[in-house]
Amino acid sequence: MHTTVVNVLLLLLWLANCSAAVAAPWSSSRLIATTDDGTKLLVANTDSGTLSVVDLDRLRTVAEIAVGREPQAVAVVPGTSLALVTAYRDDLVVIVDWARGRLVKKIAVADEPYGVVVDRSGKRAYVSHDFPGAISVIELPAGQVAATHRVGRFVRGLALSPDGSTLFATEFYTARLLEIDTSTGEVRRRWDANSEYNLCRAVAVLPDGSRAFLPHTRSRTSVARQEGSIFPILSVVKRGRGDHGQRKPIALDTYNGFRAVAMPWDAALTADGRLLLTVYAGSDDMHVSRVLDDDYYEIELLRPAFRVGRNPRAVVAHPDRPEAYVYCTLDFEIAIVDLNGLRIARRVRVTDPPYSQQIWRGKVLFNSALQPMAGRRWVSCAVCHPDGQPDGRTWQMPEGLRNTPSLAGIRYTTPLHWSADRDEVQDFEHTIRGPLMRGRGLLRGKPYPSLGPPNAGRSADLDALAAYCNSFDFSPSPFAPDGKLTELAERGRRIFFREDVGCARCHTGPYFTDRKLHDVGTGQDDPTERLGPAYDTPTLLGVYRTAPYLHHGKAATLLDVLTTFNPEDRHGRTSHLSRDELAALVAFLKSLPYDRPAAAAP
Ligand code: HEC
Ligand code: HEC
Repeated sequence: MHTTVVNVLLLLLWLANCSAAVAAPWSSSRLIATTDDGTKLLVANTDSGTLSVVDLDRLRTVAEIAVGREPQAVAVVPGTSLALVTAYRDDLVVIVDWARGRLVKKIAVADEPYGVVVDRSGKRAYVSHDFPGAISVIELPAGQVAATHRVGRFVRGLALSPDGSTLFATEFYTARLLEIDTSTGEVRRRWDANSEYNLCRAVAVLPDGSRAFLPHTRSRTSVARQEGSIFPILSVVKRGRGDHGQRKPIALDTYNGFRAVAMPWDAALTADGRLLLTVYAGSDDMHVSRVLDDDYYEIELLRPAFRVGRNPRAVVAHPDRPEAYVYCTLDFEIAIVDLNGLRIARRVRVTDPPYSQQIWRGKVLFNSALQPMAGRRWVSCAVCHPDGQPDGRTWQMPEGLRNTPSLAGIRYTTPLHWSADRDEVQDFEHTIRGPLMRGRGLLRGKPYPSLGPPNAGRSADLDALAAYCNSFDFSPSPFAPDGKLTELAERGRRIFFREDVGCARCHTGPYFTDRKLHDVGTGQDDPTERLGPAYDTPTLLGVYRTAPYLHHGKAATLLDVLTTFNPEDRHGRTSHLSRDELAALVAFLKSLPYDRPAAAAP
């Protein structure tokens, strides 16, 4: 054969190879993103409410831009120096010019914007909304919200196909994966998960779209013991053709040589799709795995989990350097991972803690599945109370079934626990040392009994944990736009305060609780109950987002609480209310808090 012909053939082969190798990556939503040109890393600082710009050549933070409360994700707009950031607590998406270090525009969006991705044309962005579970479509550069589609419940993670036609989204409390057609906003396919799967807020997809990787937790609520309750999982979803999709779990503890990792929080692929990076927010470590094409193991571990820093919540690979970045949120640092040496090469500080040293320490302890909090790296406080929110689960505790409450406002609503068997957060030293966590604990000597003399003031760490737990606040209900009750909810408010209905006898004061125990007839439904039949009146602030209800978690809706679970009118008098009156009452409950709690008082 002529050498020229050979050369042409080789060239063609090379070209074919190249186009295969550069199959464009999917973009996933996360707290950090590299810019197109690979010179900068953008870091959304959830606690500080800022976006930091890290220069990846000079290895330092060159700008920090205020963006709003609780940014949860950043996405770059290709071909520009713009990026979009979600401000979860402000219901905003902001556009930032990272090159000039300034905020360009604020876009008002639906409630609780969490994830964000931008398509490759830079013309459309997609935003996930945690509650109630929706996707917004934003037209760029105008920044107009074109549509908001309800797609599921508590939607957090996002990944967008290179052609912009397919959007993957994950549900936080079910680890379900939704495949959404971006042209219609309709859910095209759904990969349901085992009912024990929980806390999924990220998805990474191979460049060819064939497989998606979802880091999450498995909460086995029938057992409250350090071995047996909580497991780290990576779900692999294989799309297949037609309906031949498949979902399979990889047990990350077994995968890691039978040593647990805790709270799989983010996953990312290198641009070529060859390496999968996963970070664990509870055990402070990460995995680098090779992606296999064997239809069996799926991934292969390159090095057992290695420590990266405190509370890593995001990981991303550089578009072309053999380097990855891990955001260690409670060190306020980016750890730079050398993907050849599989080690941390450098660290770059990105922001300063916006709170006291004590709150910082409390947050570190709360999120940690390491000693002195936990014996064997399975369980942290955060795995059942992620950022103070509930885990959506009801646990079989020794005292009976116990629905995990939100920790919002607990400093105002003591005593603690459904049975009021604790009176200060410092009493959770018993949880740390107990069968659930088996940690060494934070106190010297023995903790006093839960309702005995105060454990407060006996350990700086325990007081820090308490200070952090006592810092969670309620967010205003989306059912009361602009802090005002709708007409229906206003009718419900009047019913709530009616003498013959009597809700306010117990749900009283700014926090809607008298902080006392009452038998409201709910203690008969659980044969394992040891402490009933009286329970501590719970606050009603925030109940719009905390289903299921009651101590045993058996009431699926607020209406169930007032009807099915109140057959004898012992929990307020509700049997004489009409359907419309009940609907109004529920509308009122869902509107709480509609103002600052103090102002919501009668
Ligand atoms: C396995 C899941 C799980 C873990 C781990 C866990 N909790 Fe809880 N937590 C629960 C459940 C369930 C309840 C309700 C129990 C009850 O009322 O008896 C609860 C209740 C609470 C309450 C009371 C809230 C209220 O309004 O009454 C606080 C405070 C709390 N937990 C803090 C912690 C801290 C601090 C840790 C870590 C030391 C921790 N929890 C670990 C599941 C968990
Ligand atoms: C006698 C005191 C009392 C009265 C009156 C009362 N409640 Fe309750 N409420 C409680 C107690 C105690 C619980 C917890 C029961 C349990 O968990 O089993 C509760 C639980 C609830 C819950 C579930 C909250 C959650 O987070 O799971 C709702 C909602 C509620 N009440 C609304 C009402 C309404 C509406 C009325 C009026 C019709 C009312 N309550 C009347 C004491 C009372």
